[in-house]
Amino acid sequence: MWVTPFFIGSARENEVMQKQELLQKFTELFGDSDGAEVYFAPGRVNLIGEHTDYNGGHVFPCALSVGTYAVARKRSDRVLRFYSLNFEDKGMIDSSLDELKPDPLADWTNYPKGVMWAFEQKGMEIPRGMDLMLYGTIPNGSGLSSSASVEVLMGFILRDFFGFDVSNEELAKIGQFSENQFNGVNCGIMDQFAIAMGKKDQAIFLDTRDLSYQYVPIRLDGVVLIITCSNIKRGLADSKYNERRSECESALGDLQQVIGIESLGDLTEKVFDSYAAAIHDETCRKRARHAVYENQRTIRAVDVLEKKDIDAFGQLMNESHRSLSEDYEVTGDVMDTLVQIQWQCEGVIGSRITGAGFGGCTVSLVKEEYTDLFQKQVSLEYTEKTGLKADFYVVEIGDGPKKL
Ligand code: GLA
Repeated sequence: MWVTPFFIGSARENEVMQKQELLQKFTELFGDSDGAEVYFAPGRVNLIGEHTDYNGGHVFPCALSVGTYAVARKRSDRVLRFYSLNFEDKGMIDSSLDELKPDPLADWTNYPKGVMWAFEQKGMEIPRGMDLMLYGTIPNGSGLSSSASVEVLMGFILRDFFGFDVSNEELAKIGQFSENQFNGVNCGIMDQFAIAMGKKDQAIFLDTRDLSYQYVPIRLDGVVLIITCSNIKRGLADSKYNERRSECESALGDLQQVIGIESLGDLTEKVFDSYAAAIHDETCRKRARHAVYENQRTIRAVDVLEKKDIDAFGQLMNESHRSLSEDYEVTGDVMDTLVQIQWQCEGVIGSRITGAGFGGCTVSLVKEEYTDLFQKQVSLEYTEKTGLKADFYVVEIGDGPKKL
């Protein structure tokens, strides 16, 4: 695997260095870099509002400064030549615009190909093939949305290459459509939206019912956001994700027999509690309870954050984790252990699992002066209790996709 050089200096200098390094690597792979352009799309972390986006609820994610870089250039024929510096063992994966169908052997290239397919489904024919090299700085399988990052990135490149008239919001929808229809994961809109619409130092409060949104500046005086990567493999995550989604749909179906709602996001906790008995299956009832309570928690969380009540925000993060553990059952023993360790650390204001679950990362609000101690303590105890090694990232909230 290609190892990232350690970049120091200003963000702008880093970008330039990154760009030259990437072009050089592209030249090694494709002969030269004439006509090649360099692009970037971020990853995302969700602060609160988990498994609410396919239930008509609210989410509160932000784009990260880590993400996926691409070097791409148009070809004169219909050939697609893809290479990832993160999966060098897979080598160059070749196909063509005439073969835009899911193929297990195509491995990670099913993501960019899915987006090409989605453009064509929406009536935007891709006239020429491309050479594409990707390099991701999002830790693998971390639940920080490396796939959505690739999807939005691909859409951004296609728009830039062929002048398609699509907004960033539409790029997000196309990314989600490709993931649902081409790659078979029934995800909501959160990841692609957070990535396509990301803004430096702002989180996005998004209502997934109608995609209305508001940027909320994340100015956390004396407090940092730390992502802890559990490094457990997210086995079967996709099928369990789809299962949760259908459990929620089944709960909604039962509720619609007794109350006129369009989605679980329409319900307050109180109304849900009074109709919950209409949901026949106990598991589905628990899933729906999480979706309803988490949505209301997210609305409250943004409200308290705007009032600068960071402690209340932290409490809501903790409640979110408990609900994901007990009602939604997407955490598992290891992630629960990790969060419990974090809750015990001095200086922690709140901590929870982030993303789809079944492994991945946690996000924690930590008083700045405890940043190092937090990492030391969590690292030690986590390894002691699970035998695994944790990785830490102090969150920098970055912009959406761009050409470098
Ligand atoms: C994954 C999905 C999102 C969202 C989260 C859970 O990241 O892609 O749409 O459902 O899980 O909040």
